Amino acid sequence: MKKIGVLTSGGDAPGMNAAIRAVVRKAIYHNLQVVGIKRGYEGLIQGNIEDMNLSSVADIIHKGGTMLRTARSDEFMTDAGLEKAINVISVFKIDGIVVIGGDGSFKGAQRLNEAGIPVIGIPGTIDNDMAYTDYSIGFNTAINTVLYAISNIRDTSTSHGRANIIEVMGRDCGDIALYAGLAGGAESIIVPEVDFSIDEICRRLIQGRNRGKLHSIIILAEGVVENSYEFAKEIEKKSGAETRLTILGHIQRGGSPTAFDRILASSMGARAVELLMEGKKGKAIGIRGNQIYDVDIKEALSCQKKINQDMYELAKILSI
Ligand code: F6P
Repeated sequence: MKKIGVLTSGGDAPGMNAAIRAVVRKAIYHNLQVVGIKRGYEGLIQGNIEDMNLSSVADIIHKGGTMLRTARSDEFMTDAGLEKAINVISVFKIDGIVVIGGDGSFKGAQRLNEAGIPVIGIPGTIDNDMAYTDYSIGFNTAINTVLYAISNIRDTSTSHGRANIIEVMGRDCGDIALYAGLAGGAESIIVPEVDFSIDEICRRLIQGRNRGKLHSIIILAEGVVENSYEFAKEIEKKSGAETRLTILGHIQRGGSPTAFDRILASSMGARAVELLMEGKKGKAIGIRGNQIYDVDIKEALSCQKKINQDMYELAKILSI
C-alpha cells in the first residue's frame, strides 16, 4: 500500500471534512501518498484527482459540507462506468480507496471491491439509516440542528397556543425524527417505520390543551404523508388548533459538526487507513457500543435497519 485515494459520495454530511482530514493526515504520518478524488464516483470516472498534503486539509475540521465535493453517479453503476473507474485507478497508481458516504456509496464501494480494488467504507450520512453501525457521521449534528429548530418553534408555539408540525429529513429512516423529537419533548413523532393515526395525534393534542399545555410540537419524517400541507390542514380541522408547518429541508445537511461527529469522523478516518495498511479490503467501519469496529461491506449492506421501539415508546410516555 503506497497510495491511498479518498472520496465523498452521495448526500454530504457534517463531519465528512473531519474524516477526510483524518485519512490524509494518518496516511501521511505513515509515509503513504494520498490523493483526493473530487465529486465522488463521478470524479473518479473523469480522473478528477489531485495530490493531497498536510496543508490540503488544514482548517476544515470545523466545516460542514465536503471539501472534496460530492455527486450521485448513475454512470458509475453501469459496467462501462466501472471499467472507466478501474482504468483511472490504475493510471493514477492508486492502491486503495476510502469511500465516505451512505448506502448508495457503499454499493459503489462494493462494486470496486468485487473488481479487486481494496476499498474501505466510512458511514457518512445524516439519516443514520445504516443498520450495521449505531451512528453515521453527520447524524449527531443533524439532530442538534433539528433540536435548535424545535426549541425556537416551541417558543412561538407556546405564545400563540398553536400546533406546529416540523418536517425533518431521513429518507426512509425515522432516526432524525425520533432522536430530535425525544430530545425536544415533541408531543407526537411520526416515522416511516411505525403506523400512525391522525385521531390519536389530535387526541393527545386536545388532552394536552385541556390540562393547560400551550404548545404542541409534531415531528414528521419526510415522505410519510403524501402532502405535508394537507396533513397540517387535517390536524387543524380535527384538533381545532391553529396549525403551522415548517419544512426544515437542507438546513439539516449543513453546519459545523458537533464534537461527537468530529471525534467519530477522526477515529473512523484513521482506522480506515490502518485497515488498508493491514491489507484488509471490502470493509465497512462502524461504531457499536462505543467501539469502532469493521465488518464486510457486503454484510453491512445486508443489515436491516429498525427503529428503536423503546425510544419511540419513551418519547410517547414522556410527552403526555
Ligand atoms: O440522504 C441524505 C438526505 O439528506 C435525505 O435525508 C434526503 O431525503 C435526501 O438526502 C435529499 O437528497 P438531495 O439533497 O439530493 O435532494
